[in-house]
Amino acid sequence: MPHILALDQGTTSSRAIVFDADFRPVASAQVEFAQHFPQPGRVEHDAGDLWRTTLECARQAIEKAGEIPAAIGITNQRETTVLWDRATGQPLHRAIVWQDRRTAEVCAGLRATGHEPLVTARTGLLLDPYFSGTKLGWLLDHIPGARARAEAGELAFGTVDSWLIWNLTGGRVHATDATNASRTLLFNIQTGAWDVELCSLLRVPPAVLPEVKDCAADYGRTAPGLFGAEIPILGVAGDQQAATIGQACFQPGMMKSTYGTGCFALMNTGAERVVSANRLLTTIAYRLGGKTTYALEGSIFVAGAVVQWLRDGLQIIGQAAETQGLAEAADPASSVVIVPAFTGMGAPYWRPEAQGAVFGVTRGTGRAELARAALESVGFQTLDLLKAMRADGAEIGRAVLRVDGGMARSDWTMQFLADILGAEVDRPVVTETTALGAAFLAALQAGIVASPEEFASRWALERRFTPAMAAGEREGRAARWGRAVQATLSV
Ligand code: G3P
Repeated sequence: MPHILALDQGTTSSRAIVFDADFRPVASAQVEFAQHFPQPGRVEHDAGDLWRTTLECARQAIEKAGEIPAAIGITNQRETTVLWDRATGQPLHRAIVWQDRRTAEVCAGLRATGHEPLVTARTGLLLDPYFSGTKLGWLLDHIPGARARAEAGELAFGTVDSWLIWNLTGGRVHATDATNASRTLLFNIQTGAWDVELCSLLRVPPAVLPEVKDCAADYGRTAPGLFGAEIPILGVAGDQQAATIGQACFQPGMMKSTYGTGCFALMNTGAERVVSANRLLTTIAYRLGGKTTYALEGSIFVAGAVVQWLRDGLQIIGQAAETQGLAEAADPASSVVIVPAFTGMGAPYWRPEAQGAVFGVTRGTGRAELARAALESVGFQTLDLLKAMRADGAEIGRAVLRVDGGMARSDWTMQFLADILGAEVDRPVVTETTALGAAFLAALQAGIVASPEEFASRWALERRFTPAMAAGEREGRAARWGRAVQATLSV
């Protein structure tokens, strides 16, 4: 039975999971790496760390699984931007992470000069520092000589998938997939090609860009010596798209929400590019056999990160799992609201300069009340996304929500989510959906699985959360959240 290795390079750790041909996890490994915050609003990763930790996990997982996998699937934190020297393979700077806000002014300038409608029409995105294009522009402007070298074809740009493919293939392949390309502000999601006009608007020389392939495609073989055998890389997708695939959201209207560092809700809209009237993104869900499937996306920058803040910033919990017990023990009369705008606010507000706030603090407020408010903030933010999706179309966002990611393991958080959404929330047996999606793509290309439908038939429900909160309470709490957000944004 062939094995498939999924590499999941995330925001705080790199992971590798080996699946068998029935998509059961056989072995896994995970390594965390350093986060760099050189200035307020700036977030960087050492690109070398991303590669080394990925390689380490891959080797550990293969060793535990006891055999060389038949194929590799890659999934990754999206938008994070790497620029490297094609001759030496050395990065020219630390990777600029998706959460980094350093190009907020550049984006505001482009908006002020009326460029956003064109950018949105071509890419489905908005002018926000979240995306790769302006980060790449910053690197080309701030590294001495980089722009001229980029124009001369000496430098390569990539999101993390490209950077890993380059290293895995020993510098032989410079490629990305359509989902990662769709997060750069440079890729035309209608034509499926890099957009020359947008490259010139963001002053990006096309010579730095990777080749864009389908999500299930031949991305080359690993360099000899890395794993003892050359393994083909056959699947690639950004992590949120991979989770959409891993959740088998293959039909229009199906939707998933992943609770990792941030929270990203994607709804499959099929072959139709739904343009949001409510500041959601239109993005590529996947491209298979040259056929593009689109999604509507709501992106929240802080979900699990609010629990990390309780642990590492406030130091009022020792481990993330403690929040569940604390939330249960919190004073029911407390009405603390946390608006975790730690790295600005994403959808549907798009306010990169916003900072977080805590409301409703009294003498009785303690760590239990803060922990509950932290978990609730994730539900409230998801509610904002669903409201925007619902406002974008009658049927949109009314389907059951499939959840995954670390926070989805918290029953308390998922029950609150169902309560505040007034909608059913389904948690699958396998919550490692991101890695699973990448494994599926590689398996599809390898011929181990025949079709998305065959894969979808294996999706299994572990638990359905049904809303139990009275409508009056739900509306009152949602209204209070709305006022807290408005107050936060007006400071
Ligand atoms: O767009 C950013 C996203 O890809 C990061 O995902 O799982 O690290 O929150 P995650």
